[in-house]
Amino acid sequence: MNSEILINADRLPVRYNDKPCYDIVFRDSFDDLVSEIDSVVNLEGRKVCIVTETTVSQHYLDEVKGHLNGSSCDFVGDFTFAAGEASKNLDVVRDLYEYLILNRFERRDILVALGGGVVGDLTGYAAATYLRGVDFIQVPTSLLSQVDSSIGGKTGVDFDSYKNMVGAFHMPKLVYINIATLKTLSRREYLSGMGEVVKYGIIRDKVFFDWIMEHADEIKALDTEIVKAMVYRSCDNKREVVEEDPKEQGVRALLNFGHTLGHAIEKLTNFKFLHGECVGVGSILAAEISKDLGDIDNDTVNAIKDSFSTFEFPDIIEYDVDEVVKTTKSDKKMSKGQIKFVLIKSIGDAYLSLDVTDDNMSKVLKEYKDARG
Ligand code: GLY
Repeated sequence: MNSEILINADRLPVRYNDKPCYDIVFRDSFDDLVSEIDSVVNLEGRKVCIVTETTVSQHYLDEVKGHLNGSSCDFVGDFTFAAGEASKNLDVVRDLYEYLILNRFERRDILVALGGGVVGDLTGYAAATYLRGVDFIQVPTSLLSQVDSSIGGKTGVDFDSYKNMVGAFHMPKLVYINIATLKTLSRREYLSGMGEVVKYGIIRDKVFFDWIMEHADEIKALDTEIVKAMVYRSCDNKREVVEEDPKEQGVRALLNFGHTLGHAIEKLTNFKFLHGECVGVGSILAAEISKDLGDIDNDTVNAIKDSFSTFEFPDIIEYDVDEVVKTTKSDKKMSKGQIKFVLIKSIGDAYLSLDVTDDNMSKVLKEYKDARG
């Protein structure tokens, strides 16, 4: 893999149902945000609502609002909700609808999601449903949202503690990635996003997996060019998958590697650990199951474990094995009551299995816990 080539690429067009749909642009400032938005939705005479959360708003709301205030749009509003997964619910969506109604937003008006995965998913869902659908722009500011959740049109909220249970597919008009926003993330938040980056390597891109490990120090030090290359390559992987299977009827389900057990652990630890951190543990457990089923050897499992320890992923052992297995049954990734589990035949080659049993899961959950307890 040649990172020089990647560094020079600053735009990635994404197709939907075989037609050009939206671009992902890679920047290191917000300087041309308005012209990029204007080129896809023509801001003149339209209202814009920036949707964000309390942490991100402190860093970027004034700057982004300032840029939009200098544009030809009619009105720039903002709606800020409390940071964190606990806000990803229908009550906050309701408050956002109310804000839009009180400010007379019409179908031609635009939502801008400024923030991480929670902001992007919730704003996208409001955009999909308000007046049966308005345009929205993704401005992802966390590593996880830049490399995964802002791309591919999955939107939604949690319902009670069921993750992403209510949602819709609704494509953004633009994904504007300002790499510089990664600098204001906490180190823990930034590194947790590596769970989704490493995932692309594990499930479909062995060259990328090796490159990530070779460049781990620069990635951890937030070297601009290396991080830009990493985000670009991740987005390109995601683009290929969602273009082939936009509604998750096949290959897109492979992106759920590490998520079946990861989501269950995330829920049972009351969202104390970040999503990416739980995906990290779920990925190690999925690799262990692949080994138990004879697909991979111990060296491959160790390479996967090393990748997560390199990026300082925490061990998570505060779970009850039976509860985790039970919780996987309420996951969305089910087919006729059977879990669709993502396993690997090697690094870079994932497949979907309907054969993973409760015993397979219990065994690796117990071994993981015992080894670290
Ligand atoms: N985050 C997984 C997907 O977009 O399908």
